[in-house]
Amino acid sequence: MPEIKFYDHEPIPMEMHKVKIVQQLNLLPTRQRLERIKEAGFNTFQLHNGDIFMDMLTDSGVNAMSDEQLAGMMKPDDAYAGSESFFRMAKKLEEIFGIPYCLPAHQGRACENILATRFVTSGKCVIMNYHFTTTKAHITRLGGHVEELVKDEGLVSKSDLPFKGDIDLDKLEACIQKEGADNVAFMRIEAGTNLIGGQPVSVQNFKDACAIARKHGVLSVLDASLLQDNLYFNKTRDEACKDMSIREITREIADQFDIIYFSARKFGFARGGAILVRDEALYHSMEDLVPMFEGFLTYGGMSIREIEAMTVGFDESMEMDVISQGPQFIKYCVDQLDAYGVPMITPGGGLGAHVDAIQMVGHIPQEEYPSGALTAAFYICGGIRGMERGTLSEERNPDGSERLASMELVRLALPRRVFTLSQVEYVIDRVKWVYDHRELIGGLRFVHEPATLRFFTGKLEPTSDWPEKLAEAFIADFGEDQ
Ligand code: F0G
Repeated sequence: MPEIKFYDHEPIPMEMHKVKIVQQLNLLPTRQRLERIKEAGFNTFQLHNGDIFMDMLTDSGVNAMSDEQLAGMMKPDDAYAGSESFFRMAKKLEEIFGIPYCLPAHQGRACENILATRFVTSGKCVIMNYHFTTTKAHITRLGGHVEELVKDEGLVSKSDLPFKGDIDLDKLEACIQKEGADNVAFMRIEAGTNLIGGQPVSVQNFKDACAIARKHGVLSVLDASLLQDNLYFNKTRDEACKDMSIREITREIADQFDIIYFSARKFGFARGGAILVRDEALYHSMEDLVPMFEGFLTYGGMSIREIEAMTVGFDESMEMDVISQGPQFIKYCVDQLDAYGVPMITPGGGLGAHVDAIQMVGHIPQEEYPSGALTAAFYICGGIRGMERGTLSEERNPDGSERLASMELVRLALPRRVFTLSQVEYVIDRVKWVYDHRELIGGLRFVHEPATLRFFTGKLEPTSDWPEKLAEAFIADFGEDQ
């Protein structure tokens, strides 16, 4: 995409689309927001969408669809078995990834359930650059354990390293030696790496990691849920890829892997998922799990209409004009906040802008969930719904002690093609205000703590009356109705 030049100022991100359908937003006054977050147990997953002004929880299933995708939804071939819509999707995926076998599943974690059920047994190890919450939950449910081998630099919040999601190749080699290749269920590389700030993986690292896995006879799996952002960074940050098309880069990456799976709530801008399998025997060894958990092999629990939208979305994910929108908006947001002094994960990655809560509210002990408290503060002071990505999103250790997250982040997701730059400016402004009043924010403690994936359904309370004090300070600056 050519960078659009401006006459009297530096370039800003430009939307290469126009808005055709809109949804009305609602900005509740601060005191009402304070009540809503209390009712939600200080957990932004528990808020009602109607009470939110800027929904930056996730990009999952909420990316704006294109006119072409909606048009595709008008021609589904509805059938329990043998839907032509499914065959069109599988053919498109083969064209893009060069992998012939496709198992459909209703979303990313459903793919993870199938992969874990097939490959993980008690004591087995799954090697990753970094875990994702649902991925890990399926592996540990079956008695397996996860080894996270992202390079040390990947966990440094302020950096200018272009590919912070890269796996450490020495650690990978050592881990396979230590575990024994037979005990490694598979190696999973996540591109881009969600929980460390949507950070990308380089093409060379994919190649080197898969070569090591291949040498040891370890199965290689790519989680391609956030691949479209990763591809943008491969193209723009890696000299070796600068003259390659997005399709060529995709193929270069895909060629390394035995299995590719993804959430099409992200990749493909719709709602669904799929597992692509290179080897026929391996495909057959998993196919019975699809009708058991998902639905017949030609819909996998998905609406056929969504399958048609996904197929169009996959093609759009190969367009630089489409995939650059998210990372460019994120970079704009990250750079502005970083310049103000707000501790951000840099460089900006995919998916969203990530605030480093350890740095911003370091006075809150990790056991009192600083990222969770900061996430609640952004809602109180702006109606902005982010997502906690820190200790609250971890599971406790088997002995009941807290597993303190290696990164405490608040994610402000930028679903693709959804927000305008003025809305992003609003978010930047409110985050700056919260940063300047950060000492008012206190901790949280659980009042209802589920054993698994507690961040989804858990309820918390503040450890003091800090939310009231924060709201009063905000009202003093902005008035009653903001
Ligand atoms: N893998 C990655 C890298 C993800 O980011 C997600 C979901 C999944 C797998 C699971 O896919 O939601 O379709 O079941 N990430 C969402 C998020 C939930 O908000 O980051 P799913």
